[in-house]
Amino acid sequence: MSNDSNHTEKTSTEKPWGGRFTEPTDAFVEQFTASVDFDQRLYYHDIQGSIAHATMLAKVEVLTDAEKNQIIEGLTEIQAEIEAGEFQWSVTLEDVHMNIEARLTDKIGITGKKLHTGRSRNDQVATDIRLYLRDEIDVIAAEITRLQQGMATLAKREANTIMPGFTHLQTAQPVTFGHHILAWNEMLQRDYERLLDCRKRVNIMPLGAAALAGTTYPIDRELTAKLLGFDRPSTNSLDSVSDRDFAIEFCSFASLVMIHLSRCSEELILWASAQFNFIDLPDRFCTGSSIMPQKKNPDVPELVRGKSGRVTGHLFSLLMLMKSQPLAYNKDNQEDKEPLFDVLDTIKGCLRAYADMVPAIQVKAENMREAARRGFSTATDLADYLVVNGVAFRDAHEVVGKAVAYGIEQEKDLSDMSLDELQQFSDQIHADVFDVLTLEGSVNARDHLGGTAPKQVLAATEKVLTNLAQRKH
Ligand code: ARG
Repeated sequence: MSNDSNHTEKTSTEKPWGGRFTEPTDAFVEQFTASVDFDQRLYYHDIQGSIAHATMLAKVEVLTDAEKNQIIEGLTEIQAEIEAGEFQWSVTLEDVHMNIEARLTDKIGITGKKLHTGRSRNDQVATDIRLYLRDEIDVIAAEITRLQQGMATLAKREANTIMPGFTHLQTAQPVTFGHHILAWNEMLQRDYERLLDCRKRVNIMPLGAAALAGTTYPIDRELTAKLLGFDRPSTNSLDSVSDRDFAIEFCSFASLVMIHLSRCSEELILWASAQFNFIDLPDRFCTGSSIMPQKKNPDVPELVRGKSGRVTGHLFSLLMLMKSQPLAYNKDNQEDKEPLFDVLDTIKGCLRAYADMVPAIQVKAENMREAARRGFSTATDLADYLVVNGVAFRDAHEVVGKAVAYGIEQEKDLSDMSLDELQQFSDQIHADVFDVLTLEGSVNARDHLGGTAPKQVLAATEKVLTNLAQRKH
């Protein structure tokens, strides 16, 4: 019997797996179990995966070259149909994979049915998500780089700008604004490194695992992996079709980015308030109030702060999705897509907004400076000065405490007091004390790797900018 006489005629809306079934799927169940509404966004990677699979099947002579070419032509046309918005997605065909395969068979007949030889939707979907995520990772990596460039540029511009540094949100010691922004950059730098590390585990190919146990065809997995740009094929078929830890790892990276951006956001929101009045956000990143005419709200940072909840929530969904799943593939895993896609959309949006906004932050240097002056931020410097002049640190602490109490009473900063006034607290205070009591003296003195001195901040920004320029993403 020839292949063709075995060929069963099915319309493109019949289930490819319908052979053993005696009644049609319940209409509600069909809707309930379908994923096509959300997984159709995998179409491009699904087609790329199929083209590589067909190419490999031809190489190992499971398909003829003519069949392979027909399949590739058909798939390429389908891609064009999808991109032109002409493709008819069908819920009856459940998911992106069966929709595309059914359309291929519509177009090229029985050869279309040969594409799925040696493959299952289980390894197919795992491959699609990995390919999709890998491409998204590269876009996100580039966006993080753009944001870091913005931060480094702002830090360089404001390397000499003095602001109060805080602990417990109380004025602690003067720092430079550039130094503060470089702290943000450190967070993003670690996130970037985490992302690249995560990419290594994403870029491994499950295809060939088939449903769970591998396949009886003489497949060449190294070849398929190479064609798809994977670093290597996976090494255990059961694990390949079932685990989604790569997606969890990505969402955990994304959660940390969002937590970091929520911290930046909180600071921007505070700084933009009338009470702090440290910065202005350009109007294009803010909105007004429909009732209070004076309002200019920092919507972008607020929304980013809010969206951090959504992303960490999705991380938790995926962790719970994976929990207790027995090997190998379970339909539970169809639930991996919506959280993952939403994390991707959200983090891309937040990074884009931040990368646009950060270099445009307008700094009110005078207000920052004034706030640092008002908060007795050089008190530690005075204590250190006394220690250098032979006073024990605990005694020095006590002396400065008294001087601060006096300053509060007199509404005077330490640097505004006369030498006589200061000398009432210790006879170890001399005229050179004013070198350390000024804000400049204080920041300039912290002149070591990682310190806040403008000189160090400038050197650090140069280093950051050089490293960023060398990145591939
Ligand atoms: N839509 C399915 C998913 O996202 C594809 C794999 C289905 N496999 C199966 N054996 N039903 O996971």
